[in-house]
Amino acid sequence: MQVFKSLKHWLVLGLGAALVCNTPAQTPVEATPPKLPNVVILATGGTIAGTGATSTTTVGYTAAKVGVEQLIDAVPALKQVANVRGEQVFQVASENMTNDLWLKLARRVNELLARSDVDGIVITHGTDTLEETAYFLDLVVKSEKPVVLVGAMRPSTAISADGPINLYNATILAGSKEAVGKGVLVVLNDQINSARDVTKTNTSTADTFRAPDLGFLGYMQDNRAHFYRAPLRKHTQETEFDISKLDSLPKVDIVYGYENVSRVPIDALVGAGDKGIVYAGVGDGSVHKDIMPALMDARKKGVIVLRGARVGSGIVARNGEVNDDKYDFVVSDTLNPQKARILLMLALTRTDDTKEIQRMFAIY
Ligand code: DGL
Repeated sequence: MQVFKSLKHWLVLGLGAALVCNTPAQTPVEATPPKLPNVVILATGGTIAGTGATSTTTVGYTAAKVGVEQLIDAVPALKQVANVRGEQVFQVASENMTNDLWLKLARRVNELLARSDVDGIVITHGTDTLEETAYFLDLVVKSEKPVVLVGAMRPSTAISADGPINLYNATILAGSKEAVGKGVLVVLNDQINSARDVTKTNTSTADTFRAPDLGFLGYMQDNRAHFYRAPLRKHTQETEFDISKLDSLPKVDIVYGYENVSRVPIDALVGAGDKGIVYAGVGDGSVHKDIMPALMDARKKGVIVLRGARVGSGIVARNGEVNDDKYDFVVSDTLNPQKARILLMLALTRTDDTKEIQRMFAIY
């Protein structure tokens, strides 16, 4: 037996040696570069595309001047992180945004995301209404692929313009696997925010976008996304809203509450045919005694009354300051008035039942 074992031992060794000797020297194989994601940059205007008279002009500049190709050419590093191509969907200062422009943008986003050769989308946008467009898209985009809105607080011509780094970060995020399924996102100032909770909090500083109380989702750092939380409310392909057959959106406006507030704006909006009115009440959505009759009259005429708050954070409690059950009002949860208006507009494309609408404010 011992002889047999040692014979077998030598046979195995010999065979191994033969294999090594006959294997040609391995030539080092060039490491194949990682496949870059395909990201489409949709430009709409804003300060990120703005130009000022001098490099120190950071207010009083002109927004929506620079085209998408110039924005891309200004950041050569984009080509190292994604295969990018640009489209100029429109060119506006975002204070001038309209329903028609929203529907045009949303349709283009859904068309592109349905294509297998598109992995994510960046939308360059003015910061003034960026949070509104982001939330509208969060409710109507029908894909889990990343959609990232980005803007700038300094024009492209300014010293330390923040647009290029914001665009670079947004492109990385839009091409990342980490951003898949997290809804529409907003990136400025190295921070990742959710479309639902982000809002512009300062007229002019680079750190203006915040999510009061609820906080941002993570950071862009070292060329990649670092997420620490994810949205819990329904968004994108989980929503019940479909704009594919819509050519307009229901008219909903906001009335601001304050000392000695007048009912005239409410009566005028009802007279103009509004389908919904958001009342941005003081405190926890409290309503001035002179306003209650106006809201009750509006409700009697079939207008949906949404009780919100001007304070900027916190839950507006149903049946808290007002007996909403008695007056058949809806409350805004934590959505600020401009976000609550968007959800109410889309809700009204499906129903005017206030219980159904209140359900929507509990899940989106
Ligand atoms: N006109 C403003 C806008 O387009 C400029 C603000 C900005 O983009 O930062 O939203």
